[in-house]
This record gives sequence, C-alpha cells and structure tokens, in this order.
Amino acid sequence: MSRPVKDYRSRTKVAVRMVMNGILDVKEAEQVLIIFVWIRMAWHNEFLLWNATDFCGLERIYIDKQSLWKPDVLIEETLDKNKAPTGPYLQIKNDGWVSITENNVVISACRMDVYRFPFDIQSCNISFKSIMYRYTEIESLFTHNNTLIMKRNTKMIRTQFEWWFLNMSAINETDRDGFTRIVYTITMKRRPALYIVNFLLPVLFFLCLDLASLLISDTSGEKLSYKITVLLAVTLMQILLNEILPSSDNIPLICKEALRLTLIRPSYLLYMTKNSSN
Ligand SMILES: *[C@@H]1O[C@H](CO)[C@@H](O)[C@H](O)[C@H]1NC(C)=O
Ligand SMILES: *[C@@H]1O[C@H](CO)[C@@H](O)[C@H](O)[C@H]1NC(C)=O
Ligand SMILES: *[C@@H]1O[C@H](CO)[C@@H](O)[C@H](O)[C@H]1NC(C)=O
Repeated sequence: MSRPVKDYRSRTKVAVRMVMNGILDVKEAEQVLIIFVWIRMAWHNEFLLWNATDFCGLERIYIDKQSLWKPDVLIEETLDKNKAPTGPYLQIKNDGWVSITENNVVISACRMDVYRFPFDIQSCNISFKSIMYRYTEIESLFTHNNTLIMKRNTKMIRTQFEWWFLNMSAINETDRDGFTRIVYTITMKRRPALYIVNFLLPVLFFLCLDLASLLISDTSGEKLSYKITVLLAVTLMQILLNEILPSSDNIPLICKEALRLTLIRPSYLLYMTKNSSN
C-alpha cells in the first residue's frame, strides 16, 4: 500500500496519457470547459515482475483497483467529480508496469477571453499532478511527442459542440514547490456561423434601415416614428441576445460596438425632435 520502490530514494515513474473524445460544453460565463477524455495512467511497481515463460507465457493480469498502491495523480483544474462510469480493474504487466484506463468527463476551470467573440480562439490547460508526492518521489514521464498526440486526437474526436478542435500539446514540468506535472494544452476555435446569422446580419440590417431614414423628408413627422421603430427593434433584439452572448471580465468588442450604436441613436433622436419642433 505504500510507494512500490525497493529504495525509498528512487523515484516512481508515472506516465499519463490523455486523448480527447469530445468537447461537450464551454461555459464562458462560468469560465468552465467540459470535455470527454480517455485517460491512461501507468506507473512502475518494482515488486511486480515475473518471467512470462515461467508462467505458461502469462504476460498480464487484471486485479481489483483497490488492492494496490496507486499514484494520487489528479487533474488540477477539475471542479467536479467524474460522472462517467469507470472500470473496476487495473492491469499488471510482467515488466512491472501497472496501468489504469478510464473514460472521464472533465469539468475544468479555464480562463477564457471573449474579446474577439465570435471569432475567438481559446486554449485551456489540463494538468495532471500528484497531490502529495514531490519531484523526489514521483517522476512524471512524458513519452509522447506532440505530432503523435495530435494524430491520435484528430482520429478520436467525435463531438465538438460549436468549436473546432485546433491543437493539443503536452509538456512535463516541475514547479517551484517541487511538484511535477504533465500539462496538456487544448486549443480550439469557435464556429462563428450561428452568430453571424443571428447577430451580425441583423445588426447590419438595422444599420441599413437606419441609414434609409435619410431618404425620408424631415418635414413630414414620419421620420421620427420610423426612427423610434428601429430603435425599439434593436432594443428588443439586444434583450433576446443577452442569453447567447458570453460574459466575462473582458466585454466582447462586438457588444461594445452594439452599445455604442444604441447610445448614439437616442441622442440623435433628441437632436431631431428639437429641430422638428423648431
Ligand atoms: C498553460 O500551461 C502552460 C505551461 O505551464 C503555461 O505557460 C500557460 O500560461 C498555461 N495557460 C493557462 C491559460 O493557464
Ligand atoms: C519529462 O519527461 C522526460 C521523458 O520521459 C523525462 O526524461 C524528464 O525527466 C521529465 N522532466 C520532468 C521535469 O519531469
Ligand atoms: C514523433 O514520434 C513518432 C513515433 O514515435 C515519430 O515517427 C516521429 O518522428 C516523432 N516526431 C518528432 C517531431 O519527434
């Protein structure tokens, strides 16, 4: 039940591999990324070695997960328990490598910047780190190169929500406190089509309507009521859009511009009313 090394000064090698199966949800308001991943964690146990030829060629066995020491490697950014079902067994190979494979729904914290919404690119970190063991006890191995990680991921990914999966890379690093971690960085790009149809085009359309009011003569009272109708339409649309727009500490550029349009319009109206009453 304790760290399986013959000399306590030697480090236990731990390797973690993650492959992403899908992006399930991105909540910009809560700064949360939900992904479905396949995780394989393997570590070396110095006491579980055997010669396959001495045991009729038996190379691997499967035993209950609870019966052996496991590295306490967890995802640092995770906010909630894994909701995907996990298997009850771990695998032991005759060269001493013990491994667990599980599917995982990772609900992770991720800082997102939506300034360029809906043309934004987000990158999120998933870091695997031991809670208790330090660098002197656990060595995070990183055996994949990034081309291989990318190849596997593009093959495995099945659902991407409203995002395009762009890239995934990994590094292993040791921080100042002496903890070692493997950091996967996922980069993805939003599919803007929905927002162009639902948001950008209507705004442009209202802008054209607004300009069309220049064609109406000032003397007939028509112009003012026309302008007010357009203003009401824009306000209504903004109320509806409040739902779909992301919120974060950085307000999207597009919202700032829309706000500017609505702010300018009433002052313009006021100016017009004064002029027509004259
Ligand atoms: C992700 O991890 C890398 C490496 O540790 C770091 O340089 C980068 O700032 C991290 N990104 C975020 C968004 O935390
Ligand atoms: C990163 O992984 C490589 C290859 O497995 C290993 O040699 C190296 O010691 C690791 N670095 C850290 C800081 O753990
Ligand atoms: C990555 O690993 C694969 C297979 O192990 C190898 O064929 C390829 O050359 C490696 N690429 C780089 C950039 O190291």
